[in-house]
Amino acid sequence: VLRGTVALDGPSGTGKSTVARRLASELGAAYLDTGAMYRAVTLAALRDRVAVSDVEAVALAARSVDLEMGTDPGHPSVSLAGENVEHEIRGPAVTGSVSAVSAVPVVRELLVAEQRRLIRQSAEQPGGIVVEGRDIGTVVAPEAGLKVYLTASSHARAQRRTAQDAAFGHGTDLERTHADVRRRDNLDSSRESSPLRMAGDAVELDTTELDVPGVLAQLHKLIEQRG
Ligand code: C5P
Repeated sequence: VLRGTVALDGPSGTGKSTVARRLASELGAAYLDTGAMYRAVTLAALRDRVAVSDVEAVALAARSVDLEMGTDPGHPSVSLAGENVEHEIRGPAVTGSVSAVSAVPVVRELLVAEQRRLIRQSAEQPGGIVVEGRDIGTVVAPEAGLKVYLTASSHARAQRRTAQDAAFGHGTDLERTHADVRRRDNLDSSRESSPLRMAGDAVELDTTELDVPGVLAQLHKLIEQRG
């Protein structure tokens, strides 16, 4: 078992969340979904009726957010002021606004600091921590013992996202999801503050033709090699 941190980055719909959570369970590691943190801040801003294009108002809202992340891969949780928002942060309102909110530098500073704190806490534990996001290998934890960058064709990613939306009980439409996946890819890769890109020392894993057990097998192999 690899001690320390496994960083799993990549765009949405690569199977990252499913794989990260299962990998953490199998390793006896903690699990941190950083996308859920950006989603929770987005929900808080929307509830405050902040226009997400108003950078200063978003920054102000972010500073007053009381966010708590549970890092047990068996029961990962996201709470705002003690209220479990795990379901609501996956809804279309948040998904439509999260890229704008996550492009605000103050939001990133606040959340990256909190992510580093949670990682430090768990990296000392025997199983370590699996962290998924967009900038874990590049910005949040450049010292991670293993960095993997998951990719897949945008079509495969839209299909997975649609299935995930359905599983969360949200309405689905493959074409719209495909458009949304491409829109968020563009926003996430072109933003100035921590754009989505692969770390120089990350291993790229294309999951287009792999199912979840297939991706997990590859990850375990990489961890053994680093072991
Ligand atoms: O992974 P998920 O789709 O839940 O992430 C939602 C959004 O949060 C992404 O589209 C991206 O804008 C943002 N994000 C980020 N940095 C991270 C994780 C997520 O900017 N480390």
